[in-house]
Amino acid sequence: LRHAVRPKVTVNCAASIDGKIAPTSRVQTRLSSPADLERVRALRAECDAILVGIGTVLADDPGLLAPQGSERKPLRVVVDSRGRTPRSAKVLDGGAPTLVATSVECQANFANAEVVRLGRGKVDLIKLMDELHDRGVKSLLVEGGGAIIFSMVAAKLVDDLFLFIADVVLGGRDAPTVADGSGFPRLEDAARPMFVSSTRLDGGTLMHYRF
Ligand SMILES: NC(=O)c1ccc[n+]([C@@H]2O[C@H](COP(=O)([O-])OP(=O)(O)OC[C@H]3O[C@@H](n4cnc5c(N)ncnc54)[C@H](OP(=O)(O)O)[C@@H]3O)[C@@H](O)[C@H]2O)c1
Repeated sequence: LRHAVRPKVTVNCAASIDGKIAPTSRVQTRLSSPADLERVRALRAECDAILVGIGTVLADDPGLLAPQGSERKPLRVVVDSRGRTPRSAKVLDGGAPTLVATSVECQANFANAEVVRLGRGKVDLIKLMDELHDRGVKSLLVEGGGAIIFSMVAAKLVDDLFLFIADVVLGGRDAPTVADGSGFPRLEDAARPMFVSSTRLDGGTLMHYRF
């Protein structure tokens, strides 16, 4: 019923065995194996929009483009309350339509991107999902990072979670994890998605959960 008004949301993320999605240095790190990347490309080719948080733009500068040869150009969405997306960011290269979602207080504008101002202080993700739905987005792929994934899960906006656990231990108390943010205070509050499947891929294990 919820999908009558909101996009179907798929979160995709690659993590180490110990749940980190980047090393403490936060340098751009490819945890996905070639086989996993192939799967992620297929997800990108199928969705109407691809969303990341500003932390991911600042750390990794992702292009958020559908794979070469794909006819579709998914909308690129950056959740960026204070308008910190760098002018040189790949998401502002004009290679595909881009939407920057800021808070209502933010005045920033960007070349090659539309801006929507939703929420006080930080971006209201529920309003953003409604806005995306109004723009014709039926399926949304969320590609991180940890703060956005936690907020999306906590707001009960996520339908499917694909987690590739690479055969590596990264460690580090301050390394970002699959779900950061404030966290759920107690186990009783935690989100409990249903297990769908696990598959051994080259270099790691793919887990699929449904909320
Ligand atoms: N392995 C993987 O699959 C993968 C994928 C993506 C990213 N990463 C890694 O993840 C790290 C970045 O993650 P991150 O957690 O720092 O950043 P993030 O989740 O990409 O972005 C978080 C930022 O979004 C903004 N924001 C606005 N509204 C929000 C809301 N309602 N809820 C949460 N955040 C909101 C906040 O900044 P403002 O208040 O300034 O708006 C917040 O700091 C990088 O190290 C990157 O390499 C890994």
